[in-house]
Amino acid sequence: MATQKYLQFDGNILLLGFGSVAQGLLPLLLRHVDVPASRIAIITGDDRGREEADAFGVKFEINPLRRENFRAILDARLARGDFLVNLSVDVASAALIEFCAEREVLYLDTCIEPWPGGHTDPALSASQRSNYGQREVALALRQKFPQSATAVLTHGANPGLISHWVKQGLVNLARDILGASEIPVSQPDWARLAMRLGVKSIHCSERDTQVSLPRKRLNEFVNTWSVDGLISESTQPSELGWGSHEKHFPADGYEHRSGARSAIYLGRPGALVRVRTWTPIQGPFHGFLITHGEAISIAEYLTVRDGDKVVYRPTCHYAYHPCDDTVMSLHELVGRNWVTQEKLRLLRDEVTDGVDELGALLLGHERGAYWYGSQLSVHEARKLAPYNNATSLQVAAGVLGAVIWAMQNPQAGIVEPEQLDFQRVLQIANPYLGPVAGVYSDWTPLQGRNYPFAEDLDNEDPWQFKNILVN
Ligand SMILES: NC(=O)c1ccc[n+]([C@@H]2O[C@H](COP(=O)([O-])OP(=O)(O)OC[C@H]3O[C@@H](n4cnc5c(N)ncnc54)[C@H](O)[C@@H]3O)[C@@H](O)[C@H]2O)c1
Repeated sequence: MATQKYLQFDGNILLLGFGSVAQGLLPLLLRHVDVPASRIAIITGDDRGREEADAFGVKFEINPLRRENFRAILDARLARGDFLVNLSVDVASAALIEFCAEREVLYLDTCIEPWPGGHTDPALSASQRSNYGQREVALALRQKFPQSATAVLTHGANPGLISHWVKQGLVNLARDILGASEIPVSQPDWARLAMRLGVKSIHCSERDTQVSLPRKRLNEFVNTWSVDGLISESTQPSELGWGSHEKHFPADGYEHRSGARSAIYLGRPGALVRVRTWTPIQGPFHGFLITHGEAISIAEYLTVRDGDKVVYRPTCHYAYHPCDDTVMSLHELVGRNWVTQEKLRLLRDEVTDGVDELGALLLGHERGAYWYGSQLSVHEARKLAPYNNATSLQVAAGVLGAVIWAMQNPQAGIVEPEQLDFQRVLQIANPYLGPVAGVYSDWTPLQGRNYPFAEDLDNEDPWQFKNILVN
């Protein structure tokens, strides 16, 4: 087991939110960062995790942040050189980023959240409410704070590690297809490598096979990570980075009118949109196309432009098969006309078996399909760290890697996962990811589609989103 202390941190660390991810992270932080427990504190919205915090001697306070009180609460607890690790739901990331930039406090979150109601605010357009819109607002803070302390946006497993797996996957493809060994350094170099390799589409493909006892009951929503987080993102419209090779714009697709315009959104919530995808253990399956930050940031990062013209961009999106009981929970939620179930349950200690297979599926190059990512079982996760299941440990490992990177690069400004040193982050995260595999496949979304009444397929190019989408 990895026990190395990577650095000494002299500031205070404030964990905001103490749900599945933060509870999984705390033992890793104490193991790998030389900081006394007395300089770590937790502010959260409910009682979950109190026992764990007590066991580690970390101060635990229930004091939910709201638009009206967050400055006062944080001002009393954070000063220059401290670190705010935001693992909450329902607290606006942009407000916290601004607060931290003003005070030279280091910052990290794992997704960009609005204040409650932000995803459904009728005063905002659908584009403004989207992840794309939220990202534009957060990135615009770079103009206001061009030299701020490091603020890492959206860095868990996905978004987070997935951007580094994409880079490692491209490096491996370059080795196998081009016989090339140099590692790109700049954004244009990475984008040109993806273009040269002919990568047309990138899935963040995830198959979670964790099972737990008791099974999901009637009118209950269960999940292996935040129940609130998943309900929120699966009820938002699907979003995807839109590739330059695409010839068929989706019938219910919408373009954004401002910003880099690297992504589009669909007029349907992610819980109703399924896509064909593949992972090494499961093989082919249908995943939900749920909106996620990496779909936008990876697509934008790998764009090649000639002036204003987009010459190349891969299509990028999430393709998520949650654990079976969560699929049933989503199915029930939709059937209830989106009225949230009476009972919500986060599955951790009751998980009995299963693997979270999570990685980057790079499609359309000379070798067809290549998946690179983590195949962490719940049994291995438990051996590696307490207070975790496979899913939370993958996320916590990504947070740990990025927190340590930020501590060692404290003046990097507002950055996305693509701007971090991917090798350094993976070096820190890898000991917690179980088998990390790179696997080729001859899978295409056209396989087995010769049945009667097959949809209107594009047989010329298997990697068209039209072929990947389940109608
Ligand atoms: N990038 C990734 O790979 C990834 C993966 C999983 C989760 N996430 C995100 O990480 C975050 C945490 O996930 P989780 O599974 O730990 O969630 P969780 O639902 O288990 O925990 C959320 C925590 O936030 C706290 N909270 C709620 N309202 C608050 C408020 N107003 N002020 C302070 N705290 C508040 C809750 O009390 C709880 O402790 C979520 O935003 C989730 O979407 C990202």
